[in-house]
Amino acid sequence: MGLVSNVCIRQKKRMSFRKVSIIIWVLAVVLFLLVLHHNFLSLSSLLRNDVTDSGILGLQPIDFATDVHQHPVNGRQEEIPVVIAASEDRLGGTIAAINSVHRNTRSNVIFYIVTLNSTADHLRSWLNSVSLKSIRYKIVNFDTKLLEGKVKEDPDQGESMKPLTFARFYLPILVPSVKKAIYMDDDVIVQGDILALYNTPLKPGHAAAFSEDCDSASTKVIIRGAGNQYNYIGYLDYKKERIRKLSMKASTCSFNPGVFVANLTEWKRQNVTNQLEKWMKLNVEEGLYSRTLAGSITTPPLLIVFYQQHSTIDPMWNVRHLGSSAGKRYSPQFVKAAKLLHWNGHFKPWGRAASYADVWEKWYVPDPTGKFSLIRRHMDASNIK
Ligand SMILES: *[C@@H]1O[C@H](CO)[C@@H](O)[C@H](O)[C@H]1NC(C)=O
Ligand SMILES: *[C@@H]1O[C@H](CO)[C@@H](O)[C@H](O)[C@H]1NC(C)=O
Ligand SMILES: *[C@@H]1O[C@H](CO)[C@@H](O)[C@H](O)[C@H]1NC(C)=O
Repeated sequence: MGLVSNVCIRQKKRMSFRKVSIIIWVLAVVLFLLVLHHNFLSLSSLLRNDVTDSGILGLQPIDFATDVHQHPVNGRQEEIPVVIAASEDRLGGTIAAINSVHRNTRSNVIFYIVTLNSTADHLRSWLNSVSLKSIRYKIVNFDTKLLEGKVKEDPDQGESMKPLTFARFYLPILVPSVKKAIYMDDDVIVQGDILALYNTPLKPGHAAAFSEDCDSASTKVIIRGAGNQYNYIGYLDYKKERIRKLSMKASTCSFNPGVFVANLTEWKRQNVTNQLEKWMKLNVEEGLYSRTLAGSITTPPLLIVFYQQHSTIDPMWNVRHLGSSAGKRYSPQFVKAAKLLHWNGHFKPWGRAASYADVWEKWYVPDPTGKFSLIRRHMDASNIK
């Protein structure tokens, strides 16, 4: 009996030893696969960052990205705050932009969607769509009282009727707990990994990084297209004493405030919001912005406050003017290689006669409430549901 049980125990021990070694084996294989996998991912993101050629998008398995999002590989993932506005009349733009960011990154993005109270419910129903379910977001109410006395109610200036275009001036108020954030307009599509934009280095003392109008690949287009809309004199009225007294060179390259990375610690330290408000008020009183262009009224105060005080983002992260005319300006290869496409201008990709609307539409998710629909030239709006 004693012998038998002894053998039994020994066998059991051997068995459990074997079990343990099998477990160790399995763990080793899993570890190996994880390492392999990780290397592959960093390789593909390396390729994505460095090679700006066609076909790179093919390296991004979109389904896989969503999968990872649901099972975070590790806990060290930093949150990437992305602030975007949502206007009722162009909500489809916001949805497509958010979806494109989300589907092209493995990072932990949180969207702060700035909107008016009356739009919040519509937005929430749309974001409840099955294909948008894994998106993390917070809806932030924009209090239009902030703008009282700072925006002229000028019927000639369409933008003054759109309070949400000023949301970007108030980032520290809208997202008080955030230290670094990305702001983007609603008429963009992101094709790169938003992490790369977030990692844009900001020089000490700089509260934001913008894409300049002279270094970008779109420069020639601008010069051909719209007079001086690439330097300060295109935006500010240099005949006004107050502007001249600033001693800002009129030929200074302007920048585009549709996409930027902000250090909100520095923004608060420099009271950037107060400074912007000061110039808004002065413009209401004295008319300081250039009237020669179908004027932006959000760009000029930013140009003044950030004069020689900003860092730059990679031009491929703000490939713009896709909305300036219905014609196609860029080669399909270039459009494909762009990290971010920006339909600034009158021809929005959800409207009639837009360029590259097919590129945009890949990220669009139809409105379940049916309130918003695309306007297409060759189709009935009712065909696109
Ligand atoms: C927006 O709605 C919230 C909740 O419904 C309310 O507390 C808040 O006062 C509203 N804000 C404005 C500006 O109407
Ligand atoms: C942001 O600005 C603060 C204050 O100048 C600075 O200490 C911090 O390092 C900056 N952070 C980044 C990410 O640049
Ligand atoms: C920022 O504003 C606060 C209070 O409004 C003021 O005390 C401070 O001096 C200002 N700082 C700068 C750099 O303007």
